[in-house]
Amino acid sequence: MRPIPIYSPEDMRQADYILIPVFKKDHKKLLKYLAACEGQLPSPWSKQALLLAENHEPDYKKFIEQWVGKQKLILMGLGDERAYQKIAGVCRLAVHKQEEKPSGGKIVLVLPDYLDGNSISALANGLALSAIRLDYYKSEKKGKPAELAFFTGKKSTLKSIEAGIRIASTQEEICHLVNLPPNEINPQYLAGWARRAFHGRPVKVEILEEEALAQHKMGALLAVGMGSETPPRLLVLDYQPSTRAKKLKHIGLVGKGVTFDTGGISLKDPANMHLMKSDMGGAAAVLGAVDLAEKSGLAIRLTAVIPLAENAIGPASYRPGDVIHSYSGKSIEIIDTDAEGRLILADALAYLVKKYKPEIMVDLATLTGSCIMTLGNKAAGLFTNNERLAQGITAAGEATGERVWRLPLWKEFEEEMHSDIADIKNLATKPVAGASTAAKFLEAFTSGHPAWAHLDIAGVAMVDSDFSKMRSATAYGVHLLVKWMEEMIKP
Ligand code: BES
Ligand code: MN
Ligand code: ZN
Repeated sequence: MRPIPIYSPEDMRQADYILIPVFKKDHKKLLKYLAACEGQLPSPWSKQALLLAENHEPDYKKFIEQWVGKQKLILMGLGDERAYQKIAGVCRLAVHKQEEKPSGGKIVLVLPDYLDGNSISALANGLALSAIRLDYYKSEKKGKPAELAFFTGKKSTLKSIEAGIRIASTQEEICHLVNLPPNEINPQYLAGWARRAFHGRPVKVEILEEEALAQHKMGALLAVGMGSETPPRLLVLDYQPSTRAKKLKHIGLVGKGVTFDTGGISLKDPANMHLMKSDMGGAAAVLGAVDLAEKSGLAIRLTAVIPLAENAIGPASYRPGDVIHSYSGKSIEIIDTDAEGRLILADALAYLVKKYKPEIMVDLATLTGSCIMTLGNKAAGLFTNNERLAQGITAAGEATGERVWRLPLWKEFEEEMHSDIADIKNLATKPVAGASTAAKFLEAFTSGHPAWAHLDIAGVAMVDSDFSKMRSATAYGVHLLVKWMEEMIKP
């Protein structure tokens, strides 16, 4: 991510596009601010902006545009929006619209003095995220990336700008991991990415390969991964800030890292199979959360266990009917090889509990189509029987705009997972409540941990958006997890 300069009033002359945020409640303040800008400026932008703003008040996500000589003024409607990503999305969209033109140009975001830190951070985040491009493999790149800048008179906004850019730079990386194709992003790639990304930082990286997995008797992860030419890995990250305060809270994270999900022998319908490159969205979110937590110097101990596998078809593939032996000691009857996510998570959760004993555990997984049927792409499914955890994660999601919605994890779902010949089976008897029965399966591998939550992110990891014609990655979970942890450790 390139650094984004701050323009002086003098610099404003070279701006091609001038973005002005318009929050409903601040409309009067905006007029005052623009009037005050006028005296100090060599370019006539603020005078015209004042006229424009006096006559228009764009609704949320609406833009009012006007040319002033060679400059274009753009009022960005933000309504009464408070959710971080909702604000960021408008700013990103404003840049995206200009960037579709071949000229590129210089885009300046005006940050009036009266904005609060959260809004400034969100706007800066959206501006920075506009750097995400999807034309990785296009022989001809269309349009030129814009040059971005801020205009602000207030020193204290710098911290908020930095925070927004810091979050965006992690989110950008994570989006790439999800958007890039599955012949590139395999278990080895993600393990290597983590090694490189965390080198020289206070994050221990450990990668268990097949032999180690076999020694540890991780039969579930091995079963899912062995149908592929690119074998499974278990990636373990352990972060502790170098300046250690008193006793740190210890959080455990788990992320589903299926780098491609064909369904295995229970083969998927080909219609949307290409989207299964996003089946490592949980793993990517967890990698991002560790990255961002470390960059922010969060006073927390964070252990992430990320199972990586490709659910492919090969001579060594596991089959429906197989009984496999998981790390926890529980045997699992395979009914459907397409219910693979819960298997690799089973080993990861059990390993995390047994080896690291974190106080709180959260897993993120693109786990079920059933969750998408229930919540669409509007929220992730949240499953936990811990009220405090539910409240904390829900509040963080409302704040960042990565919404979660609680779904049940009732005892009654347990019998759905009964197997006659093994301890548990991997698919419910009836094809109903699929997201809850999947969560119930996971719970069986948490050793009754009192503070565990599962997020089913199948509907939100890769979505139709304003920024692409096909579905693209959202980095869902990165900001949510870090925000949740930040709030939790506040005194
Ligand atoms: N990775 C899929 C879930 C998924 C579906 C994610 C669509 C994103 C978009 C998961 O491994 C899967 O195949 N789930 C099956 C489970 C079923 C076999 C019990 C599903 O939901 O259909
Ligand atoms: Mn599957
Ligand atoms: Zn899957």
